[in-house]
Amino acid sequence: MYSGNELRDMFLKYFEAKGHKILPSASLIPKDDPTLLLTVAGMVPFKPYFQRRVEPPFPRATTAQKCVRTPDLEEVGKTARHHTYFEMLGNFSFGDYFKTDAIPWAWEYVTKVLKIPVKKLWVTIYPEDEEAKTIWEKAGVRSERIVGDPENFWAAGPTGPCGPCSEIYVDLGEARGCSKPGCAIGCDCDRFLEIWNLVFMQFNRDEAGVLTPLPKQNIDTGMGLERIASVMQGVETNFDTDLFRPIIDHVANLAGVNYKDNAKSDLALKVVSDHVRAVSFMLSDGIRPNNEGRGYVLRRILRRAIRYAKLLGIDKPFLESAFRIIQRDYAHSYPELKENENFIISHINLEEKNFQATLDQGTQLLQEKVKELIKKGETVLAGADAFYLYETYGFPVELTDEMLAEQGLSVDMEAFQKAAEEHRLRAKEQSQQMRAAAESPELTEKAKSLGVTPFIGYEKVSATPRIEAIFVNGQEVSDAGEGEEVVIFLSETPFYAESGGQVSDVGVIKTPRAEARVLEVKKGVTGTFYHRAEVRGGVLHVGESVEVQIDNAERLATTRHHSATHLLQTALRSVLGEHVQQAGSLVTPERLRFDFTHFSQLTPAELKAVEGLINEAVLKNMPVKATEMSLTEAKESGATALFGEKYGDIVRVVTMGSFSRELCGGTHVSSTGEIGLVKLLSEGGIGAGLRRIEAVAGLESLIYFRSLDEQVMEVAQNLKAQPLEIGKRVNGLVAQVKDLEREIAQLQAKLAKNEVNGLLSKVAEVEGIQVIAAKVQASDMDGLRQMADLIRDKMKSGVIVLGAASEGKVNFVTTVTPTGLSGLHAGQIIKEVAKITGGGGGGRPDMAQAGGKDPSKLGEAIDRVPTLLRGFLKK
Ligand code: ALA
Repeated sequence: MYSGNELRDMFLKYFEAKGHKILPSASLIPKDDPTLLLTVAGMVPFKPYFQRRVEPPFPRATTAQKCVRTPDLEEVGKTARHHTYFEMLGNFSFGDYFKTDAIPWAWEYVTKVLKIPVKKLWVTIYPEDEEAKTIWEKAGVRSERIVGDPENFWAAGPTGPCGPCSEIYVDLGEARGCSKPGCAIGCDCDRFLEIWNLVFMQFNRDEAGVLTPLPKQNIDTGMGLERIASVMQGVETNFDTDLFRPIIDHVANLAGVNYKDNAKSDLALKVVSDHVRAVSFMLSDGIRPNNEGRGYVLRRILRRAIRYAKLLGIDKPFLESAFRIIQRDYAHSYPELKENENFIISHINLEEKNFQATLDQGTQLLQEKVKELIKKGETVLAGADAFYLYETYGFPVELTDEMLAEQGLSVDMEAFQKAAEEHRLRAKEQSQQMRAAAESPELTEKAKSLGVTPFIGYEKVSATPRIEAIFVNGQEVSDAGEGEEVVIFLSETPFYAESGGQVSDVGVIKTPRAEARVLEVKKGVTGTFYHRAEVRGGVLHVGESVEVQIDNAERLATTRHHSATHLLQTALRSVLGEHVQQAGSLVTPERLRFDFTHFSQLTPAELKAVEGLINEAVLKNMPVKATEMSLTEAKESGATALFGEKYGDIVRVVTMGSFSRELCGGTHVSSTGEIGLVKLLSEGGIGAGLRRIEAVAGLESLIYFRSLDEQVMEVAQNLKAQPLEIGKRVNGLVAQVKDLEREIAQLQAKLAKNEVNGLLSKVAEVEGIQVIAAKVQASDMDGLRQMADLIRDKMKSGVIVLGAASEGKVNFVTTVTPTGLSGLHAGQIIKEVAKITGGGGGGRPDMAQAGGKDPSKLGEAIDRVPTLLRGFLKK
């Protein structure tokens, strides 16, 4: 009988003999793959090869890959074959062999190496794949044992490489089936067990679901180790194999129950044993339990394990002891279980302690809520209650939902998500405050004891230093896992720490199984380099040696800007005079900013001269040299130093031919030609006697000119002009627009006069007072008022009410002339008029203006004016 370990080795050896390279399992955290949370199949690490984003370094490979899948979480333990964590054995061809080899090898392996009787085997194919059918038949499968299955099309996720597939099934016998009529291959019961899936990877699926052929045809296969072990060991379920039994027995022992005594405790034992494997392996790859992404998946599985253990009567912490069994049985194949044991155990214990403490209270609370619901005849728990359980007692909402489902109830998920989102926003503000606290006394103390970090970044962009210390949230730790924000101290470093205006390098710190992204590097007063980084996967340990690599493209871009800054300083002095002093600078990969003393704005001619001098110095391709010397020597040699800056006894002097000589600790090009084109972008004042210039160099200049070019081309196209003619054409257009505007103003004045004349001919009389109330055209209040003034000038005595609709609103103007005519008041009149259109307003007795909201009521408002006036006159 073969053990699980033997079955793993046999598979790899078989394919090694067929020219495949045996590779270790990749991490459960997919590398650079935002489409997948976890590694779900053996092919995940090879996606770039299938898509030819990366040239495959070998044509064939074979692996036993750690996988986690959670869509069937609730099936675990209920069937013989579902798991969260499992191992997938696979052979892969990267554009090398295809179906005609993959199929006979699979058949040979199953029938000749594993010696599974042919009479127990079935094969499924993608219905249109006649080619596969013929190849299976040629390999020795009887045609009545080959059945089509429309679901035989496989993909790792919604997008990415995919293709039709073909599967091998073992018939475990009628006794294992559901005995329902029609139970045959494809039935969901435990009788027909799929043991191997062969995927003929030949398409890539994009976001819209469109398939395009991959550059080459590939093979991806997957055989579940636990399943094949159950077949080969002749046991009823995967849980009865040697891959699981030691864990089950251990947990049963802790609980004081016997495996196979009763169905309920067996289910719990299976769930717990499955989940502790998942938890151990996920932690061993540096995933930490938290409330996001894969960390949340881990937390959910971990807490579910604790709850099922509780159902078995286990009240004490048990995860560490279960992990030890897994470590004992698996560490030889997966050394990360040993390497990262401190990380694994500390997280297991912390999480278990926290959840154990609240599980009972939370369960009790939930039961009370359930009673209330049942009493009220309701079936859905409020989102806020589920969130309270989540927040206060650490119940993953899916766990709450599952516990409710056992009683026929559920959670209002939408309301839960809303409550969670509100909480997230609040928490974000708090975490920003926490970050400020990261600079703890312990951190400062450590930096002091470590002293100066040797900087090797002038010569090197990579190195293999030792990790001297790791800090998380100001606390020293011995290791750090995925998602953690850390400060790392190294024994030496190629990372330039932010200083002299030059921003720090970014890059990576990695080991074969872990990677952290360095986001920022600072130098403490003790000369110790603080590498602020985020662990992207795996676990980093204090004391291990790591590969560190700066992002060289970013460094080079920054360096060009720094060297350009030196040229700029000299150029400014030679154009403006020796009074120019550097007053600050910022050098980044994107641009340079240089502040200096000078008393007036630079003229276009001065700017042109400065820019010209810099670029001539670039084209002379002068050598750039950095030399260390004493401060006195440096000053005597005429090096430019920053006024008021403190320097050590030994300083670094950077010279660029005979053009520039400055004290500087920054990184520089080796000859000025490497700077490329330097373009000044802006010049302006930033305070009394202080100016600021911004400029770009190297590729950033290209980017700048490209964007300028695109805009010019777009304008030229719109004008139907040649690019170099657009200046003239735009000037012409601007003049034309001015003329048109003048013309429009004149026409509008004319129109208003005409309208006024029209209105004057329609004077009405109310109780002997002349009244003009009218709806007119005017785009704003000013136009309306001008119109009212024109009418008033022509009308010796009377009341004018004008209204105009514009942009969904209404404007009104009222005049009463002469002031006080028959006791009428413009402000009071307009208030009543505007009210009809849903507005308000007021003003002086002789002139008032107001606004309204509803243009459809404007006519009615104007029509009501005589009636309103009569009302006022009676008073
Ligand atoms: N990638 C295929 C699967 O997971 C082999 O079934």
